[in-house]
Amino acid sequence: MKDIRQIINEALEKIKNADVAALESVKTEYLGKNGVLTQILKSLSSRSIEDKKRIGSEANNAKSVIEVEIESKKENLKKALLDEKMREEKLDCSKSFYFPFSKGSFHPIIQTMRDISVVFKSLGFAVAEGPEIETEWYNFEALNIPESHPARDAQDTFYLEGAKALLRTHTSPGQIHVMEKHKPPIRVIVPGKVYRNEASDATHFSTFHQVEGLAVDENVTFADLKAVVSDFIRKFFRSDIGMRFRPSHFQFTEPSAEVDMQCVFCKGKGCRLCKFSGWIEILGCGMVHPNVLKSVRYDCEKYTGYAFGLGVERITMFKYGIDDIRLFYENDLRFLRQF
Ligand code: PHE
Repeated sequence: MKDIRQIINEALEKIKNADVAALESVKTEYLGKNGVLTQILKSLSSRSIEDKKRIGSEANNAKSVIEVEIESKKENLKKALLDEKMREEKLDCSKSFYFPFSKGSFHPIIQTMRDISVVFKSLGFAVAEGPEIETEWYNFEALNIPESHPARDAQDTFYLEGAKALLRTHTSPGQIHVMEKHKPPIRVIVPGKVYRNEASDATHFSTFHQVEGLAVDENVTFADLKAVVSDFIRKFFRSDIGMRFRPSHFQFTEPSAEVDMQCVFCKGKGCRLCKFSGWIEILGCGMVHPNVLKSVRYDCEKYTGYAFGLGVERITMFKYGIDDIRLFYENDLRFLRQF
Protein backbone atom coordinates (compact mmCIF):
# COMPACT_ATOMS: atom_id res chain seq x y z
CA MET A 1 0.00 0.00 0.00
CA LYS A 2 2.70 2.39 1.02
CA ASP A 3 4.68 1.43 -2.08
CA ILE A 4 1.72 2.06 -4.36
CA ARG A 5 1.04 5.46 -2.87
CA GLN A 6 4.70 6.29 -3.36
CA ILE A 7 4.51 5.04 -6.95
CA ILE A 8 1.56 7.33 -7.62
CA ASN A 9 3.31 10.36 -6.12
CA GLU A 10 6.43 9.64 -8.09
CA ALA A 11 4.47 9.29 -11.31
CA LEU A 12 2.46 12.45 -10.67
CA GLU A 13 5.65 14.38 -10.05
CA LYS A 14 7.10 13.15 -13.37
CA ILE A 15 3.89 13.98 -15.21
CA LYS A 16 3.85 17.46 -13.78
CA ASN A 17 7.15 18.35 -15.44
CA ALA A 18 6.81 16.28 -18.59
CA ASP A 19 6.67 17.46 -22.18
CA VAL A 20 4.84 15.45 -24.84
CA ALA A 21 7.72 12.98 -25.38
CA ALA A 22 8.41 12.52 -21.66
CA LEU A 23 4.71 11.88 -21.11
CA GLU A 24 4.88 8.86 -23.41
CA SER A 25 7.79 7.38 -21.54
CA VAL A 26 6.02 7.92 -18.18
CA LYS A 27 3.07 6.07 -19.64
CA THR A 28 5.28 3.16 -20.69
CA GLU A 29 7.15 3.20 -17.42
CA TYR A 30 4.02 2.83 -15.26
CA LEU A 31 1.23 1.50 -17.42
CA GLY A 32 3.05 -0.33 -20.22
CA LYS A 33 3.25 -4.11 -20.67
CA ASN A 34 6.33 -4.20 -18.48
CA GLY A 35 5.42 -1.13 -16.49
CA VAL A 36 5.75 -0.83 -12.73
CA LEU A 37 2.05 -1.29 -11.98
CA THR A 38 1.62 -4.08 -14.50
CA GLN A 39 4.48 -5.90 -12.82
CA ILE A 40 2.79 -5.54 -9.45
CA LEU A 41 -0.46 -6.93 -10.82
CA LYS A 42 1.36 -9.81 -12.48
CA SER A 43 3.19 -10.64 -9.21
CA LEU A 44 -0.12 -11.07 -7.39
CA SER A 45 -0.67 -14.59 -8.68
CA SER A 46 1.45 -15.98 -5.87
CA ARG A 47 -0.33 -13.98 -3.15
CA SER A 48 -3.30 -14.77 -0.96
CA ILE A 49 -6.80 -14.00 -2.19
CA GLU A 50 -7.04 -11.19 0.29
CA ASP A 51 -3.78 -9.63 -0.94
CA LYS A 52 -4.92 -10.11 -4.52
CA LYS A 53 -8.12 -8.19 -3.81
CA ARG A 54 -6.55 -5.40 -1.79
CA ILE A 55 -3.35 -4.84 -3.71
CA GLY A 56 -5.07 -5.53 -7.04
CA SER A 57 -7.69 -2.87 -6.46
CA GLU A 58 -5.08 -0.41 -5.19
CA ALA A 59 -2.86 -1.04 -8.22
CA ASN A 60 -5.76 -0.73 -10.64
CA ASN A 61 -6.83 2.46 -8.92
CA ALA A 62 -3.27 3.78 -9.24
CA LYS A 63 -3.28 2.89 -12.93
CA SER A 64 -6.40 4.90 -13.58
CA VAL A 65 -5.21 7.86 -11.48
CA ILE A 66 -1.98 7.97 -13.48
CA GLU A 67 -3.81 7.48 -16.75
CA VAL A 68 -6.23 10.33 -16.05
CA GLU A 69 -3.36 12.58 -15.03
CA ILE A 70 -1.43 11.75 -18.19
CA GLU A 71 -4.46 12.49 -20.38
CA SER A 72 -5.20 15.79 -18.70
CA LYS A 73 -1.53 16.80 -18.92
CA LYS A 74 -1.62 15.92 -22.62
CA GLU A 75 -4.64 18.19 -23.11
CA ASN A 76 -2.92 21.01 -21.26
CA LEU A 77 0.20 20.66 -23.37
CA LYS A 78 -1.87 20.70 -26.54
CA LYS A 79 -3.69 23.82 -25.43
CA ALA A 80 -0.45 25.58 -24.46
CA LEU A 81 1.01 24.71 -27.84
CA LEU A 82 -2.03 26.19 -29.62
CA ASP A 83 -1.93 29.30 -27.42
CA GLU A 84 1.69 29.83 -28.30
CA LYS A 85 0.97 29.37 -32.01
CA MET A 86 -1.89 31.88 -31.80
CA ARG A 87 0.37 34.35 -30.06
CA GLU A 88 3.05 33.95 -32.70
CA GLU A 89 0.68 34.21 -35.67
CA LYS A 90 -1.43 37.03 -34.31
CA LEU A 91 -2.07 39.87 -36.78
CA ASP A 92 -2.44 43.37 -35.45
CA CYS A 93 -4.84 44.84 -37.97
CA SER A 94 -4.65 48.26 -36.39
CA LYS A 95 -0.93 48.49 -36.88
CA SER A 96 0.18 50.85 -39.62
CA PHE A 97 3.14 50.01 -41.74
CA TYR A 98 5.16 51.59 -44.48
CA PHE A 99 3.33 51.20 -47.80
CA PRO A 100 5.72 51.68 -50.71
CA PHE A 101 3.09 53.04 -53.13
CA SER A 102 1.54 56.49 -53.02
CA LYS A 103 -2.21 56.81 -52.93
CA GLY A 104 -3.94 57.21 -56.30
CA SER A 105 -5.84 60.33 -57.25
CA PHE A 106 -8.30 61.50 -59.85
CA HIS A 107 -6.99 62.53 -63.24
CA PRO A 108 -7.03 66.35 -63.41
CA ILE A 109 -9.67 66.26 -66.17
CA ILE A 110 -11.99 64.03 -64.13
CA GLN A 111 -11.34 66.25 -61.11
CA THR A 112 -12.28 69.37 -63.09
CA MET A 113 -15.47 67.74 -64.39
CA ARG A 114 -16.40 66.90 -60.80
CA ASP A 115 -15.63 70.46 -59.69
CA ILE A 116 -17.74 71.86 -62.54
CA SER A 117 -20.61 69.52 -61.61
CA VAL A 118 -20.47 70.61 -57.97
CA VAL A 119 -20.88 74.27 -58.98
CA PHE A 120 -23.76 73.62 -61.38
CA LYS A 121 -25.51 71.34 -58.90
CA SER A 122 -25.39 74.23 -56.43
CA LEU A 123 -27.12 76.32 -59.11
CA GLY A 124 -29.94 73.79 -59.44
CA PHE A 125 -28.72 71.76 -62.40
CA ALA A 126 -29.10 68.01 -62.72
CA VAL A 127 -26.35 65.90 -64.31
CA ALA A 128 -27.05 63.65 -67.31
CA GLU A 129 -24.93 61.61 -69.68
CA GLY A 130 -25.29 60.79 -73.35
CA PRO A 131 -23.71 58.16 -75.63
CA GLU A 132 -20.31 58.75 -77.25
CA ILE A 133 -21.45 56.98 -80.40
CA GLU A 134 -24.14 59.01 -82.09
CA THR A 135 -26.13 59.19 -85.30
CA GLU A 136 -26.01 62.15 -87.66
CA TRP A 137 -29.45 63.09 -86.41
CA TYR A 138 -28.34 63.68 -82.82
CA ASN A 139 -24.92 65.13 -83.57
CA PHE A 140 -26.04 67.41 -86.43
CA GLU A 141 -29.57 67.43 -87.84
CA ALA A 142 -31.52 67.89 -84.60
CA LEU A 143 -29.06 70.67 -83.72
CA ASN A 144 -29.93 72.61 -86.86
CA ILE A 145 -26.71 71.66 -88.65
CA PRO A 146 -27.80 70.85 -92.21
CA GLU A 147 -26.03 68.41 -94.48
CA SER A 148 -24.12 71.18 -96.22
CA HIS A 149 -22.65 72.71 -93.05
CA PRO A 150 -18.84 72.68 -92.83
CA ALA A 151 -18.96 71.16 -89.33
CA ARG A 152 -20.09 68.00 -91.05
CA ASP A 153 -16.92 67.88 -93.05
CA ALA A 154 -15.44 64.40 -92.84
CA GLN A 155 -12.22 66.05 -91.71
CA ASP A 156 -13.60 66.88 -88.28
CA THR A 157 -15.80 63.88 -87.69
CA PHE A 158 -14.83 60.28 -87.02
CA TYR A 159 -17.40 58.20 -88.89
CA LEU A 160 -17.76 54.56 -87.92
CA GLU A 161 -17.21 52.27 -90.86
CA GLY A 162 -20.27 50.55 -92.25
CA ALA A 163 -22.68 51.88 -89.63
CA LYS A 164 -24.43 55.19 -90.05
CA ALA A 165 -22.83 56.23 -86.82
CA LEU A 166 -20.11 58.59 -85.67
CA LEU A 167 -18.20 59.62 -82.56
CA ARG A 168 -19.88 62.70 -81.16
CA THR A 169 -17.95 65.85 -81.96
CA HIS A 170 -19.52 67.77 -79.05
CA THR A 171 -21.77 67.14 -76.06
CA SER A 172 -24.63 69.12 -77.66
CA PRO A 173 -26.44 65.93 -78.82
CA GLY A 174 -26.89 65.41 -75.06
CA GLN A 175 -29.35 68.34 -75.22
CA ILE A 176 -31.51 66.40 -77.66
CA HIS A 177 -31.48 63.20 -75.57
CA VAL A 178 -32.51 65.10 -72.45
CA MET A 179 -35.32 66.99 -74.21
CA GLU A 180 -36.61 63.78 -75.82
CA LYS A 181 -36.92 62.18 -72.42
CA HIS A 182 -38.14 65.13 -70.34
CA LYS A 183 -40.60 67.97 -70.60
CA PRO A 184 -39.69 71.52 -69.52
CA PRO A 185 -38.68 72.89 -67.07
CA ILE A 186 -35.19 71.59 -67.78
CA ARG A 187 -31.93 72.52 -66.07
CA VAL A 188 -29.21 70.03 -66.81
CA ILE A 189 -25.52 69.64 -67.55
CA VAL A 190 -24.08 66.86 -69.70
CA PRO A 191 -20.39 66.20 -69.08
CA GLY A 192 -18.54 63.83 -71.39
CA LYS A 193 -15.89 62.84 -73.86
CA VAL A 194 -15.94 64.12 -77.44
CA TYR A 195 -13.90 63.31 -80.53
CA ARG A 196 -12.56 65.32 -83.45
CA ASN A 197 -10.57 64.13 -86.38
CA GLU A 198 -7.83 66.72 -86.29
CA ALA A 199 -4.07 66.86 -85.86
CA SER A 200 -2.89 67.38 -82.30
CA ASP A 201 -0.79 70.27 -81.12
CA ALA A 202 -0.43 72.22 -77.88
CA THR A 203 -4.12 73.20 -77.88
CA HIS A 204 -5.77 70.41 -79.92
CA PHE A 205 -6.26 66.75 -79.23
CA SER A 206 -8.47 64.19 -81.01
CA THR A 207 -10.19 63.27 -77.76
CA PHE A 208 -11.24 65.81 -75.17
CA HIS A 209 -14.03 66.65 -72.76
CA GLN A 210 -16.88 69.10 -72.68
CA VAL A 211 -19.62 70.03 -70.27
CA GLU A 212 -22.87 70.93 -71.96
CA GLY A 213 -25.49 73.01 -70.20
CA LEU A 214 -29.17 73.37 -71.04
CA ALA A 215 -32.09 75.19 -69.46
CA VAL A 216 -35.56 75.30 -71.05
CA ASP A 217 -38.69 76.79 -69.53
CA GLU A 218 -41.22 79.54 -70.09
CA ASN A 219 -39.66 83.01 -70.07
CA VAL A 220 -36.04 81.96 -70.03
CA THR A 221 -33.94 84.88 -71.26
CA PHE A 222 -30.39 85.76 -72.19
CA ALA A 223 -30.14 87.50 -68.80
CA ASP A 224 -30.63 84.10 -67.12
CA LEU A 225 -27.82 82.68 -69.25
CA LYS A 226 -25.55 85.57 -68.31
CA ALA A 227 -26.30 85.18 -64.62
CA VAL A 228 -25.64 81.43 -64.59
CA VAL A 229 -22.44 81.67 -66.64
CA SER A 230 -21.04 84.54 -64.53
CA ASP A 231 -21.93 82.75 -61.32
CA PHE A 232 -20.26 79.60 -62.56
CA ILE A 233 -17.02 81.34 -63.49
CA ARG A 234 -16.81 83.17 -60.18
CA LYS A 235 -17.54 80.05 -58.19
CA PHE A 236 -15.24 77.79 -60.19
CA PHE A 237 -12.25 80.14 -60.14
CA ARG A 238 -13.12 81.42 -56.67
CA SER A 239 -12.56 85.02 -57.57
CA ASP A 240 -14.42 88.01 -58.90
CA ILE A 241 -13.05 87.72 -62.39
CA GLY A 242 -13.89 90.10 -65.23
CA MET A 243 -15.73 88.60 -68.20
CA ARG A 244 -17.31 89.59 -71.49
CA PHE A 245 -19.89 88.13 -73.84
CA ARG A 246 -18.71 88.37 -77.42
CA PRO A 247 -21.18 87.82 -80.31
CA SER A 248 -20.54 84.56 -82.10
CA HIS A 249 -22.27 81.92 -84.18
CA PHE A 250 -23.49 78.40 -83.50
CA GLN A 251 -26.13 76.67 -85.61
CA PHE A 252 -28.07 75.50 -82.56
CA THR A 253 -28.24 78.82 -80.71
CA GLU A 254 -29.56 82.23 -81.71
CA PRO A 255 -28.30 84.67 -80.65
CA SER A 256 -24.94 83.06 -79.88
CA ALA A 257 -22.01 84.27 -77.85
CA GLU A 258 -18.58 83.26 -76.71
CA VAL A 259 -17.56 84.14 -73.20
CA ASP A 260 -14.10 85.44 -72.42
CA MET A 261 -12.76 85.88 -68.95
CA GLN A 262 -9.89 87.98 -67.83
CA CYS A 263 -6.67 85.99 -67.95
CA VAL A 264 -6.20 84.36 -64.56
CA PHE A 265 -2.43 84.63 -64.82
CA CYS A 266 -1.72 88.19 -65.85
CA LYS A 267 -5.05 89.57 -64.57
CA GLY A 268 -5.68 91.06 -68.00
CA LYS A 269 -2.29 92.64 -68.53
CA GLY A 270 -1.34 90.21 -71.31
CA CYS A 271 0.89 87.16 -71.12
CA ARG A 272 1.94 84.09 -73.10
CA LEU A 273 -1.10 82.08 -71.93
CA CYS A 274 -3.67 84.61 -73.18
CA LYS A 275 -1.54 85.33 -76.23
CA PHE A 276 -1.06 88.87 -74.88
CA SER A 277 -4.74 89.78 -75.30
CA GLY A 278 -5.57 89.76 -71.56
CA TRP A 279 -8.65 87.60 -72.32
CA ILE A 280 -9.21 83.89 -72.56
CA GLU A 281 -12.17 82.26 -74.25
CA ILE A 282 -13.92 79.96 -71.88
CA LEU A 283 -17.18 78.76 -73.40
CA GLY A 284 -19.72 78.98 -76.22
CA CYS A 285 -23.36 79.66 -75.51
CA GLY A 286 -26.61 81.17 -76.71
CA MET A 287 -30.38 80.94 -76.72
CA VAL A 288 -31.59 77.55 -77.98
CA HIS A 289 -32.52 77.88 -81.67
CA PRO A 290 -36.27 77.40 -82.33
CA ASN A 291 -35.41 74.69 -84.87
CA VAL A 292 -33.76 72.68 -82.09
CA LEU A 293 -36.88 72.96 -79.94
CA LYS A 294 -38.95 71.92 -82.93
CA SER A 295 -36.83 68.86 -83.56
CA VAL A 296 -37.86 67.50 -80.14
CA ARG A 297 -41.46 68.68 -80.64
CA TYR A 298 -41.32 71.38 -78.00
CA ASP A 299 -43.69 74.30 -78.49
CA CYS A 300 -41.18 77.02 -79.41
CA GLU A 301 -43.85 79.72 -78.95
CA LYS A 302 -44.24 78.72 -75.33
CA TYR A 303 -40.72 77.72 -74.36
CA THR A 304 -37.33 79.34 -74.64
CA GLY A 305 -33.98 78.15 -73.38
CA TYR A 306 -30.28 78.70 -73.25
CA ALA A 307 -27.40 76.33 -73.82
CA PHE A 308 -23.67 76.47 -73.25
CA GLY A 309 -20.71 74.25 -73.82
CA LEU A 310 -17.34 74.48 -72.19
CA GLY A 311 -14.08 72.70 -72.88
CA VAL A 312 -12.83 70.86 -69.82
CA GLU A 313 -9.19 70.62 -70.93
CA ARG A 314 -9.10 74.34 -71.67
CA ILE A 315 -10.55 75.32 -68.34
CA THR A 316 -8.16 72.95 -66.53
CA MET A 317 -5.21 74.41 -68.41
CA PHE A 318 -6.20 77.90 -67.34
CA LYS A 319 -6.83 76.89 -63.76
CA TYR A 320 -3.40 75.29 -63.31
CA GLY A 321 -1.32 77.15 -65.90
CA ILE A 322 -0.75 74.13 -68.16
CA ASP A 323 0.40 75.11 -71.65
CA ASP A 324 0.08 71.84 -73.57
CA ILE A 325 -3.13 69.76 -73.79
CA ARG A 326 -1.11 66.65 -74.69
CA LEU A 327 0.26 66.49 -71.14
CA PHE A 328 -3.15 65.23 -70.01
CA TYR A 329 -2.86 62.14 -72.18
CA GLU A 330 0.79 61.13 -71.89
CA ASN A 331 0.23 59.58 -68.46
CA ASP A 332 3.56 60.86 -67.22
CA LEU A 333 3.40 60.30 -63.46
CA ARG A 334 5.60 63.32 -62.81
CA PHE A 335 2.80 65.41 -64.32
CA LEU A 336 -0.16 63.53 -62.85
CA ARG A 337 1.24 63.45 -59.30
CA GLN A 338 0.95 67.23 -59.09
CA PHE A 339 -2.83 67.02 -58.86
N1 PHE B 1 -21.16 72.55 -79.07
C1 PHE B 1 -20.39 73.75 -79.17
C2 PHE B 1 -18.94 73.39 -79.52
O1 PHE B 1 -18.58 72.24 -79.40
C3 PHE B 1 -20.41 74.55 -77.90
C4 PHE B 1 -21.76 75.10 -77.59
C5 PHE B 1 -22.65 74.40 -76.81
C6 PHE B 1 -22.16 76.36 -78.08
C7 PHE B 1 -23.90 74.91 -76.52
C8 PHE B 1 -23.40 76.87 -77.77
C9 PHE B 1 -24.25 76.17 -77.02
O2 PHE B 1 -18.15 74.24 -79.89
